[in-house]
Amino acid sequence: MTVVRLTQITDLHLGPDSDSMLGGVRTLESFQAVLRAVEQNGRGTDLLLLTGDLAGDCEPQAYQLLNRTLGEHNKQAIWLPGNHDNVDIMAANLVDYPRVQIQEMGDWAILTLDSSQPHKPGGHIADEQLAQVEQNLHRLRDKFVLLAMHHSPVDVGCAWLDLQQIDNQHQLHQLLLAHGNVKAVITGHVHQQFDGSWGELPIYSAPSSCVQFKPHSHDFALSDQPPGYRWLDLHPEGTVKTGVEFLQDFAQIPDLNGANY
Ligand SMILES: [Fe+2]
Repeated sequence: MTVVRLTQITDLHLGPDSDSMLGGVRTLESFQAVLRAVEQNGRGTDLLLLTGDLAGDCEPQAYQLLNRTLGEHNKQAIWLPGNHDNVDIMAANLVDYPRVQIQEMGDWAILTLDSSQPHKPGGHIADEQLAQVEQNLHRLRDKFVLLAMHHSPVDVGCAWLDLQQIDNQHQLHQLLLAHGNVKAVITGHVHQQFDGSWGELPIYSAPSSCVQFKPHSHDFALSDQPPGYRWLDLHPEGTVKTGVEFLQDFAQIPDLNGANY
């Protein structure tokens, strides 16, 4: 069997038009630059996994812009919502990219969760989703599973972000361990690279496709790192190889003092 190749792009924060900005960076331009880098690095045919905060404020036009941009770049993509998104508005406007909760690919299945809560920045997995996770992992017990969600269930070392982690992570963790087939977890939200562990599960976060948060900061702060993405190779024997790439030639400089998230 072949290696399943994925590319995670996260926290796009697209606005209603092409000039919309976050932290001094035009988010559509930076997303397009990431798409070009993905292609230049030989990952242009990968399935894209968009892990939330695809819009800055769940604007329908932002999702329309995303739908059009993905189509123009001829991309295959699945997505999940973040705290700046609204799943119903996403589904109504990402007309060529319907919500996919389970994507089966070869020996693997990618399971996506909605960890967002209305009008709250922090994460939570609703009871109905926990029940679905239990059922789906049982059904997929002969597959290796990669779980994707927006919020982190573990500390990443930024006190202000760690307050926003999934608040019922222990319940989810127990379910993920039940069949021994979940091999890794990926998240967005923290706008920085993170490679860690959640008990025995490897867990990874990716840099944003626009502006990055400063690692190890107690309070909100931006970093001057450029946009980036994470690649993941899911191997047929159940191992995951992964890494992060930052854009080398991105001209826009984040406004480190002027941003508000
Ligand atoms: Fe977020």
